[in-house]
Amino acid sequence: MIAEAAVARAAGLIRAGRLVAFPTETVYGLGADATDDRAVAAVFEAKGRPRFNPLIVHVADREAAEALAVFDDRARRLAGRFWPGPLTLALPRAPDCPVSWLASAGLDTLALRWPAHPLAEALIRVAGRPLVGPSANRSGRLSPTRAAHAAAELGRSAAMVLDGGPCRLGLESTVVGLGAGAAVLLRPGALDAEAVEAEIGPLAEPRLAADDAPRPAPGMLLRHYAPDSPLRMEACATRPGEAMLGFGAVAGDLNLSPSADLAEAAGNLFAMLRRLDGRGGIAVASIPERGLGRAINDRLRRAARG
Ligand code: TXA
Ligand code: MG
Repeated sequence: MIAEAAVARAAGLIRAGRLVAFPTETVYGLGADATDDRAVAAVFEAKGRPRFNPLIVHVADREAAEALAVFDDRARRLAGRFWPGPLTLALPRAPDCPVSWLASAGLDTLALRWPAHPLAEALIRVAGRPLVGPSANRSGRLSPTRAAHAAAELGRSAAMVLDGGPCRLGLESTVVGLGAGAAVLLRPGALDAEAVEAEIGPLAEPRLAADDAPRPAPGMLLRHYAPDSPLRMEACATRPGEAMLGFGAVAGDLNLSPSADLAEAAGNLFAMLRRLDGRGGIAVASIPERGLGRAINDRLRRAARG
């Protein structure tokens, strides 16, 4: 009941062109009406996000998705298998797609996702609009996995933070590009890329664009997902002033997963980095480069580039 009232209020704000932070199974998003140019512009403004970095558009059913973008066989297969869930598909825009061109940042593709979270789905349905939903942090910083983290990051720009408790997965969605050519892994994420490959075959690595060209996906921005403190990977022990983030048998001030469970580690990653931030530095234990470990290491590598 309480959630229903909160969703109704949030949906009203979205329809009025305001910004609402909302929970998903991956991380909190900063939601706005994707068809409203001014609301989408306000999202870029609030995040301090470069205009060349396109936004993901969130929907709550297949029909809505297929009205916005062109689905080929591979896209239908992946959506059928993994939606709702932590998979984003970058697809050619449909001819009459009503989504603001600002959201695509000059690309002729649109990134679409159906999040597996009851509050996110209810918000999209009640608002009756597709929602842009970048992670609800200032550009380049740690993604929020708790309502309080979203409020701390963007509380001043968001008219409301819809509280869904801690995010179940804690790591952003996997982004797959399905343009004319081979399918491309644009961002490793909470859905294991091997599960995608089992459905549609091998994924290509993205080509890095020249500096002044629009990035194929700025999940490719080098410095991103970063705490304020410098971060060091593959650490066995701390240096003076550092806090240690452990994994498995490598102990620390905090441990991503004492039992070396990669899903648990993904869920803890951003919240624990936030807790250790502000010290002289953060040393992170080595994480195996397999399964979800690939996505975790992707975030850590970018955070480490200070
Ligand atoms: O799990 C998630 O995906 C979260 C939750 C809130 O849904 N959202 C999220 O959004 O991580 P954001 O904006 O922080 O990251 C979106 C990623 C960026 O790497 C962006 O470059 C890429 O998706 N992207 C968006 N549109 C694209 C497009 N048309 N083509 C290629 N990449 C795109
Ligand atoms: Mg983000």
